[in-house]
Amino acid sequence: MIVYPLKSNMEQIKGKNILLVGATGSIGSETARMLATSGAQLFLTGRNEDKLAALAQKLNLPADRFIAADISNKEDIDRLKEVYFATMSRIDVLIIASGIGIIKPVDQLGEDEFLKTIMANLYGPYLLVKAFLPAMKEEKKGLIINIPGVLGKVPMAGAAAYSASKYGLTGMMQSIREELKRTEIRITNLYLGGVDSAFWDNIDLRVQRDKMIVAEEAAKTIWFLCQQPSSAVISEMVLQPFNHQAI
Ligand SMILES: NC(=O)c1ccc[n+]([C@@H]2O[C@H](COP(=O)([O-])OP(=O)(O)OC[C@H]3O[C@@H](n4cnc5c(N)ncnc54)[C@H](OP(=O)(O)O)[C@@H]3O)[C@@H](O)[C@H]2O)c1
Repeated sequence: MIVYPLKSNMEQIKGKNILLVGATGSIGSETARMLATSGAQLFLTGRNEDKLAALAQKLNLPADRFIAADISNKEDIDRLKEVYFATMSRIDVLIIASGIGIIKPVDQLGEDEFLKTIMANLYGPYLLVKAFLPAMKEEKKGLIINIPGVLGKVPMAGAAAYSASKYGLTGMMQSIREELKRTEIRITNLYLGGVDSAFWDNIDLRVQRDKMIVAEEAAKTIWFLCQQPSSAVISEMVLQPFNHQAI
């Protein structure tokens, strides 16, 4: 019988400084709960201040560990950076679990809706990287987790704006990864299929939410990705419902 040593060669969550963007969302709030339970030093953001305050209270986080911010707004990002570094000495992990979905045929898709999607799902992550990557570069270490989802890899009717933003996110993050190869900064893209979450509440599409991935299980994947092998990087991960395997 082979007995494997119990010594872990994985990154530990305990004590890691983690900025969680989209903490008020279905996947984000479950992720926050799991990371807090594992001893992470969390800083939360999202747009809805009341939801943020309620989540922080549930996790026993003080008021200087969260701030409401619209990531498509440069001034909000500047403020987020300032407030984050006033409390946290460094950033070990940036999790971008924010995003919006407007799903409709292109002839019904308004210019404002197209731009809003790009601003939230692509420009926002760009601003976040600009704000927080320099601190990771100073440490030569860090982890950025993005959720392009499967629509960042495969097309779907009605997803012109959403896919444009998510394919863009995939390409942007892959390019930034090329710039970071001499560092130990990991970039992980998580390709989730449909997750039963608030994301679908305002989408006018007939979907089988009971067949989707449970939000808690999607969050568990992010929790796992925060514990990558010390000597390697998980560049991509795909998690899809059984009945809809698009990749
Ligand atoms: N659910 C799915 O089927 C699915 C599948 C693949 C990928 N994804 C991706 O997974 C991520 C999380 O989705 P979810 O299912 O948890 O959705 P959700 O419950 O609707 O949560 C979305 C989160 O994004 C935040 N957000 C949206 N726009 C923002 C902005 N401009 N600035 C700051 N925060 C913003 C929301 O903040 P407030 O609530 O505070 O406004 C909320 O915290 C998204 O990137 C989504 O595209 C989801």
